[in-house]
Amino acid sequence: MENAENSFKLQEDTVLFHNIPMSKIIVNNWEQVESFQARPDDLIISTYPKAGTTWMSEIVDMIYNNGDVTKSSQAPIYCRVPYMEFIMPEENMSGIQQLNNMASPRLIKTHLPVQLLPKSMWENKCKIIYVARNAKDVAVSYFYFHQSVKLMPHPGPWEEFLQKYIAGEVSYGSWHDHVKGWWKKKQEHPILYLFYEDMKENPDREIRKVIQFLEKDLGEEVLEKIIHHTDFQAMKENPMTNYKTITPDLLDQKASPFMRKGITGDWKNHFTMAQNEVFDADYARKMEGSGLQFRMEI
Ligand code: A3P
Repeated sequence: MENAENSFKLQEDTVLFHNIPMSKIIVNNWEQVESFQARPDDLIISTYPKAGTTWMSEIVDMIYNNGDVTKSSQAPIYCRVPYMEFIMPEENMSGIQQLNNMASPRLIKTHLPVQLLPKSMWENKCKIIYVARNAKDVAVSYFYFHQSVKLMPHPGPWEEFLQKYIAGEVSYGSWHDHVKGWWKKKQEHPILYLFYEDMKENPDREIRKVIQFLEKDLGEEVLEKIIHHTDFQAMKENPMTNYKTITPDLLDQKASPFMRKGITGDWKNHFTMAQNEVFDADYARKMEGSGLQFRMEI
């Protein structure tokens, strides 16, 4: 975040927290998050929003269930993999409460930047899978997500949203800082850092990496089943992964479906040439020396 606290108007329900724009719902719940007691066998799935969190969550849940679709179909994904720092307003149930009630081994979803992760996750050396997706496709996906999620401020026109996104003035802050922060942390902590584009290109190869990281031993048939079950179309049709179980007053999928396109390169349908030039120049400056390489198309 390069902006001083008062140099921009934050979105209505977003406040600056440790210099990161965050939803008030999360900030008000912070004590619970900060004091969360992780267990050594917790598996954390961490992402910047819209990077493929749900996809990875379903993959890991299927791995944990040894490819048994009936087990993975017993509850919506947000019950099987609770969103740690969030509170579902309708149910008034926080991710932390859900997790505290859960038997081990637990799967945990978070979008927190690396510096805000609860201490006990580091102390317990919990394994973490980080999924990163290229900044341009995330911008587009996040723009549509803001249209459907009623708790989020309306994004306004694309041009306006894109400027905010570039400046890191959206919920969870700067994409650049997020992906870089987690990338650096992997030098000292067990983090499997994967890319959405690689998963799209070759799900077989990427799911094998996950299985190996989790030290599971699954047969080829199970792997095939997982690939098939977590394919975009299958997840779009699956009520346990497509978020249709959330009421439209919270998530209006007529405005934009949760399972929207699931492709790489949709940004080309949204960025003008001028926007792309500005984006690239800013990107080069912020990502220089990070050692991180993203593919904007496959
Ligand atoms: P798009 O809006 O570009 O379609 P998250 O789960 O982190 O919120 O990410 C949501 C994005 O991941 C959406 O991107 C969604 O369509 C995409 N997605 C979800 N499941 C997917 C899958 N099985 N394969 C590819 N993309 C998927």
